[in-house]
Amino acid sequence: MNRTMIVGCIFCSCISFTAAVKAQQPLYKNAALPVEERVDDLLGRMTLEEKILQLNQYTLGRNTNENNLGEEIGQIPAEIGSLIYFGETPEVRNAMQKRAVEESRLGIPLIFGYDVIHGFRTVYPISLAQACSWNTSLVEDACAMAAMEARKSGVDWTFSPMIDVARDGRWGRISEGYGEDPYANAAFCVASVNGYQGDNLKSPDRVAACLKHYVGYGASEAGMDYVYTEISHQTLWDTYLPPYEAGIKAGAQTVMSSFNDISGTPGSSNHYTMTEILKNRWKHDGFVVSDWSAVPQLIAQGAAVDGKEAARLAFNAGLEMDMMGRCYDKHLEALVNEGKVPMERIDDAVRRILRVKFRLGLFEHPYTPAGEPAERFLLPQSVAVAERLAEESIVLLKNEGGILPLLHPGATSTRNIAVMGPLVDAEKELLGNWNGHGRAEDVYPIRKALQEEFAGRANLLFHTGCPFDGDDRTQFAGALEVARQADVLLLFMGERYSWSGENCVRSTIELPAIQCDFIAEMKKVGKPIVLVLANGRPLALGNVEPLCDAIVEMWQPGVPGGRPVAGVLSGRVNPSGKLSVTFPRTTGQIPIYYNRRKSARPASGKYQDIPSTPLYEFGHGLSYTRFDYGRLSLSKTSVAAGEKLVAQIPVTNAGQCDGAETVHWFVSDPVCRITRPNKELKHFEKQLVKAGETKTFSFEIDPMRDLSFVDADGRRFLEPGEYYIMVGGQKAKLEIHE
Ligand code: NOJ
Repeated sequence: MNRTMIVGCIFCSCISFTAAVKAQQPLYKNAALPVEERVDDLLGRMTLEEKILQLNQYTLGRNTNENNLGEEIGQIPAEIGSLIYFGETPEVRNAMQKRAVEESRLGIPLIFGYDVIHGFRTVYPISLAQACSWNTSLVEDACAMAAMEARKSGVDWTFSPMIDVARDGRWGRISEGYGEDPYANAAFCVASVNGYQGDNLKSPDRVAACLKHYVGYGASEAGMDYVYTEISHQTLWDTYLPPYEAGIKAGAQTVMSSFNDISGTPGSSNHYTMTEILKNRWKHDGFVVSDWSAVPQLIAQGAAVDGKEAARLAFNAGLEMDMMGRCYDKHLEALVNEGKVPMERIDDAVRRILRVKFRLGLFEHPYTPAGEPAERFLLPQSVAVAERLAEESIVLLKNEGGILPLLHPGATSTRNIAVMGPLVDAEKELLGNWNGHGRAEDVYPIRKALQEEFAGRANLLFHTGCPFDGDDRTQFAGALEVARQADVLLLFMGERYSWSGENCVRSTIELPAIQCDFIAEMKKVGKPIVLVLANGRPLALGNVEPLCDAIVEMWQPGVPGGRPVAGVLSGRVNPSGKLSVTFPRTTGQIPIYYNRRKSARPASGKYQDIPSTPLYEFGHGLSYTRFDYGRLSLSKTSVAAGEKLVAQIPVTNAGQCDGAETVHWFVSDPVCRITRPNKELKHFEKQLVKAGETKTFSFEIDPMRDLSFVDADGRRFLEPGEYYIMVGGQKAKLEIHE
C-alpha cells in the first residue's frame, strides 16, 4: 500500500466511524432535528424519577439577602430541572451545569433563572417609571441590554416582566409593574418580552421571559402582600388578563403563578387560569413556574391539607415547576403511583420544560463562556439607554409660574440654589427595589450631577436638612439658615428603595410626617420651592403640593442617578414623562384609577372633606414647551365591525424649545350590555416635535380589536351603536353599524 492509499483508508474509516457514532447518537442530541422530535425522543428515554426532577427548582449561589443563600453544588441532584442563580459570574453555574450535563444519565442541561427586573448590573429606572416614558422601544432596548448582561453572567431566564395591573399605591409591588392600565401593561409587556427574548432565544445575549404574577396579584386587599384578592371573572377578563394575553402572543416562554387567592381559588392551584385560559385557549406551549414556595403555601391558604395535596392540586391545575416548594420532588412519584396524577400530565409538564431548554439552545451550549465583567457590565451603550429612559421617565407634575427650568438656555447669571433633603447623598436609594446586582457605587450621585450641571452657572448650597423618617429635627435650623441665603430651594425628598417591592407595604402613601414638616418649615423663608421626588409608588401629595412651586417626579432612576433630573432642572432636558398611575390627594382615595366603571350619579358621589378628583391624573405630565392640539378627525364616522378607520390629530409645538409629546388615545362606549369604564386607553404614540413644528398623531382603529369588550368568560364581542374616540380633551363620535 502506498502512502496515498493509507491516507485514503484512514479517511474512509474516519467517515464511517463518525457515521456510526451519529447513528448511535440519540435523536435528542441532534441539533439539526426539530425541537418537538428531540423532546419526544428524550421524553421516551426518561424514568419517572428523572421526569419529576425536571419539575423542580432550587437555588444556587450567594444571594445578596443573607437570609436566603442558595444551596451548594454538591447538595443538588444533577437531574434537577432548574436553579435560581444568585451569581454574578458564570463559574458556579458552569460547575453545576457540568454536573447536570456530564454526571447525569441523560445529560439534560439545567435552566438558570433570576430576577432581572429592571436591569442585572446596569440598573434601569423602576418599571413604574419606565412606563411614564411611554417609549416602548426604549424599554425594549433596556430589556435587551439587561438580557445580555444576564445571559453572559450565567442566567438563561428572567422572572420578568411583572404585568400586574395595580391600583393601590400602598402595595409595594406597584413599583415593579407598568401601572394601573391594562393596555399600558400589555404594551410594555410586549416591549420587554421582545427585548429579553429577541427573535432567537439561542443567541448568547437573550433570555427567556416570564410573565408574572399570574394572575390578579395587583388586587391584593388593602395593599397587603400575599393576601386574598376579590376579582370577579368579568374584571379578571377585562382588567387583569389582557397584559398576559399580549405577552403570550408576543412569545413569552414562561409564566409565574401568583400567591394570591383569587376569589376562592389560589393562583397556584387555579385550573381555570393556568390550563383553560393559558394553555387551552391561548395555546401557550411553554411552562408555568410557581412563585417562591407558592405550592406549599396552598396549605396556609386553606386549599390543601398537606404538601402532598398541595402538589396534586397545583400540578393538576397546570403548574409545571415548583419553585423552592419541595412538594413536587417529595410527592409527585407517590401521586402518580396512586393514580392521583396522570402520567400524561407528567409528560406534558416535562415536555413543556424541555421545549424551552431546547429553544434556548442549552443542549448545544450548556455552558456560559467566561468573559471579563467589564465586557458586559455597564457598557456605555447600556448606561446611555438607562440615562435616556430615566430622562424620559421623569414627570414634571407642577411648574407654577414657569419656575423651571432653573437655567434658561444661554443664561449666565449666578443664582444661589439650596439643595436639601435625605436623597441628596443617598445613591443606593436611587436604584429602587429588585435591583439585581446593581451597586450603590455605580449610581451617579445627585450632588455630583448637580455640581457638574450648574458649574459656573449657579451657586449650590448643600444641606441634608431632614432624614427620610423618624423624629430627628435637629438639622432643621441649619437648613433654614441655608434656605435664607438661597434664591430657590431644591428639596430632594421621597422614599427609601426598601419601602417598595415585595412585602414592603405602606399604610399611607403621603410623604413621612418629618418630610412634610421640613417642607413646611422651609416655606417660612418665602423662597420658591422645587420638590424633587424619588419614590417607588404613587404618592399622595395633597398636603405638600400647595407649599411647592414646582414638583418633579424623578422616580428611582437606577444607575443614571442624579444626571437625568439635573438635566431637567437646568433645562438641558425637556421633561416628557406622563404618569402611568394616578396620584391621589390622600391615601383615603385608594383605589383610584382613571378607568373606573361608570357611576350611577357621575356628578355626585363626592367626598365631604376633599375634592373627589385625583391630584394628578393618569397621563398627566408637563413640558417646558406648549403643545397645541388641532382638530381631531376620523377618516370615517360610520363603519361595519370589520372595517378599519384612522383617527388623527395634529399637534403643534407652540413654545420656544423642542419637546416630545405623548398622545393618549382613549375610547368610550356609552352603553353596553356589560357596563364599561368611562374611558379606556387603546393606543399611545410619542413623537419629538420641534419648536414651531406640527406633527400628526394617528390611531388606526380596528373596531373588533379596539372597541370590543369581553364578557365574564373572555368571549369578545362588539355591539353595534355609538362609540367615542377621545384625545386631548376632544371626542369624536363613531357609529358601528350592523
Ligand atoms: C418571590 C417574588 O414574588 C417573585 O416575584 C420572584 O420572582 C420570586 N420570589 C423569585 O425570587
